[in-house]
Amino acid sequence: MKILVTGGAGFIGSHTVVELQEAGYDVVVLDNLSNSSEKSLERVAKITGKRVTFYKADILDREALEHIFNSENIDAVIHFAGLKAVGESVQKPWEYYENNIAGTLTLVDVMRRHGVKNIIFSSSATVYGNPAFIPITEECPKGQCTNPYGWTKSMLEQILSDIQKADPEWNVILLRYFNPIGAHKSGTIGENPSGVPNNLMPYITQVAVGKRKELGVFGNDYDTPDGTGVRDYIHVVDLARGHVCALKKIEEKAGLKIYNLGTGVGYSVLDIVKNFEEATGVKIPYVIKDRRPGDIATCYSDAAKAKEELGWTAQYGIKEMCEDSWRWQKNNPNGYED
Ligand code: NAD
Ligand code: WQD
Repeated sequence: MKILVTGGAGFIGSHTVVELQEAGYDVVVLDNLSNSSEKSLERVAKITGKRVTFYKADILDREALEHIFNSENIDAVIHFAGLKAVGESVQKPWEYYENNIAGTLTLVDVMRRHGVKNIIFSSSATVYGNPAFIPITEECPKGQCTNPYGWTKSMLEQILSDIQKADPEWNVILLRYFNPIGAHKSGTIGENPSGVPNNLMPYITQVAVGKRKELGVFGNDYDTPDGTGVRDYIHVVDLARGHVCALKKIEEKAGLKIYNLGTGVGYSVLDIVKNFEEATGVKIPYVIKDRRPGDIATCYSDAAKAKEELGWTAQYGIKEMCEDSWRWQKNNPNGYED
């Protein structure tokens, strides 16, 4: 089977390309490199020993998409391409709606014109808003998102669901990721944020490598065991493998399916600091700051449905997530610029 991976040069995409190639799939990557480097794909080829067919293209560019679907015999699309910075999306809502929603509509239109009606979409736990209950099952109602990024995920879930309902030939799998961290064991591919990291783990690793002075902990007065925010961190390689399992489901005619991809375990910010220090031997100085607007106290998954229906569970624990994040950062202090 030939799989088109949009956004395949990015963090989760590059790890998924490794797992797909290792599972025997042919992989074609499309990425406009707006938040990634083509070097990630060179490193993927070193890990797997297989070349990746790469198109530098934008999902908004209908002609480029037509060219790819005319040139390659695509069976299914794993759709990672999108802008993902929560804070930036508040400043630039138009750009986020245009890129993520108009881009996906263009992609899906070209897919259907070419009779390719299989898609796995990168959604997010953010669609649950402030969750109605914890642990979060897929039955938990979608909530009010606090930023345009989150709304793009929520709206795209609705759009793809409606398309599948109108035309049951479509197989649509919506994967709601919790908090991906970690990196490939080789230490050659990993998360490569531009500028000051928004997310916790890349901030911690940049403190560890000496690029930032200290971690700011956003609030210690939440209703959680130690007062800091609790999240469901998941190793990116486990997440990547979840996509391989989802593809198998598509091959069995999935229809419309929704799965949480998380571990089912919640860790606080201070748990992560402590685990990182224990796993790496590097001290992380931190200061308590105000709460970050839009943050919620607690978010972790019930991961039973993916286990039952996809045969997928996360294999890696917090120690490996910390060790692997650190190996990547230590070997590549400037990401793919090194
Ligand atoms: P990433 O930024 O590393 O990867 C996204 C890739 O998409 C980048 O390589 C970027 O260059 C590309 N891209 C963006 N707009 C494009 C366009 N118009 N045309 C072509 N390529 C384009 O992010 P990631 O962390 O790997 O996330 C992948 C997907 O998973 C995204 O859709 C993101 O919203 C979603 N997601 C991420 C997280 C997370 O915490 N990392 C959590 C939940 C969901
Ligand atoms: C985790 C915890 C922070 C940074 C975001 C998006 C979500 C999804 C994943 C895409 C929180 C605390 C963080 C720091 C801190 N992305 N923190 N100091 O907010 O759970 O989720 O990424 O879909 O949509 O919102 O992840 O890593 O930013 O924060 O104290 O410098 O760490 O307050 O409790 P979050 P995060």
